[in-house]
Amino acid sequence: MFFEGGFTMDENQKVVLTGIKPSGDLTLGNYIGALRNLKPMEALGTCYYWVADMHAITVRQDPADLRRRTLTLIATYLACGIDPEKSVMFVQSQVPAHAELGWILNCYSYMGEMSRMTQFKEKSAKLKDDSITVGLFDYPVLMAADILLYQTDLVPVGVDQKQHLEIARDIAIRFNNAYSPTFKVPEAYIPPVGAKVMSLQDPTSKMSKSDEAGDTGCILLMDSMDDIRRKFKRAITDLETEVRYDPEKKPGVSNLMTIMSCMTGKSLDDIAREFAGVGYGDFKMAVADSVVDVLAPLQAEVKRLLADKGYLAGILKAGAERASYVANKTLSKVKKKVGFVMP
Ligand code: TYM
Repeated sequence: MFFEGGFTMDENQKVVLTGIKPSGDLTLGNYIGALRNLKPMEALGTCYYWVADMHAITVRQDPADLRRRTLTLIATYLACGIDPEKSVMFVQSQVPAHAELGWILNCYSYMGEMSRMTQFKEKSAKLKDDSITVGLFDYPVLMAADILLYQTDLVPVGVDQKQHLEIARDIAIRFNNAYSPTFKVPEAYIPPVGAKVMSLQDPTSKMSKSDEAGDTGCILLMDSMDDIRRKFKRAITDLETEVRYDPEKKPGVSNLMTIMSCMTGKSLDDIAREFAGVGYGDFKMAVADSVVDVLAPLQAEVKRLLADKGYLAGILKAGAERASYVANKTLSKVKKKVGFVMP
């Protein structure tokens, strides 16, 4: 198959897709759960790696911050090694098919199933009724549209997105059954280690970019090396002295071991052996060092790329064109099937 702009696609290749929301500065959780897995997946076929800015505005955003984070996210994808010639990188709001299919799929999704979404329940519980937007409620439907537009096979995400993936599959199957096969039914790819990085201050809750700014529980990808070391130094452990993986009984230490494993490629067993008899203070500093070793070069590359706004704008323009071409094909099929008169 040949796409406009010299972009070819083998029928046997997989379609891999994921989006990240620029609603806060990127965290080590985003890196471990999603970003670090994206480069290897480029070998599987065509990848769509993009910025979910329309999802970000489901809660109020400062416009200047949203723009800055959107560009930083594109620079971060690139710094993680994503090849913009091979993969399709774009900003969701620049591909109108997402909003269009999102609306159509709203009419094939139900209030009941949306009300059961854990993320909606958790996020809305923190807000007053008149500040919970309809967009926040509807968020999983737009996410289904994002995925289904590209006939996606695999969606690399952290475990917190699993329920949204299940809804996308349900909506695809429902639509296919109501008409005829239209959407590929996607699979989640959840990494075996690091699918849920926990807060360093409360290792029973997820490390999250929506945590309070400056929260010592959350490592931001662009944190200074001093801040990273300081946050690890204060990380919560337990009253024992043994570096052992046991997420139930030792959530803090297990989380630190997971982080180190993802940063170094060492297995959890190897880490337990290496730190047998070592005190928690020294272990925490070794984890911090493993994170600094990965983030220092990544940050330098992000900063270098951010200095060249013209280069980033070019990537986004080409990406939006390539994405729109594929997305519009699916969208046209959907419009015909539901009975819209085509121009
Ligand atoms: P977002 O922006 O909240 O998170 C981006 C990715 O990072 C993962 N992640 C984590 N993984 C491990 N540990 C953590 N503490 C952690 N925190 C975040 C998330 O699982 C995700 O993979 N709804 C999505 C954006 C989106 C999307 C899509 C993703 C919109 N449409 C279509 C895939 C396909 C989101 O808010 O991710």
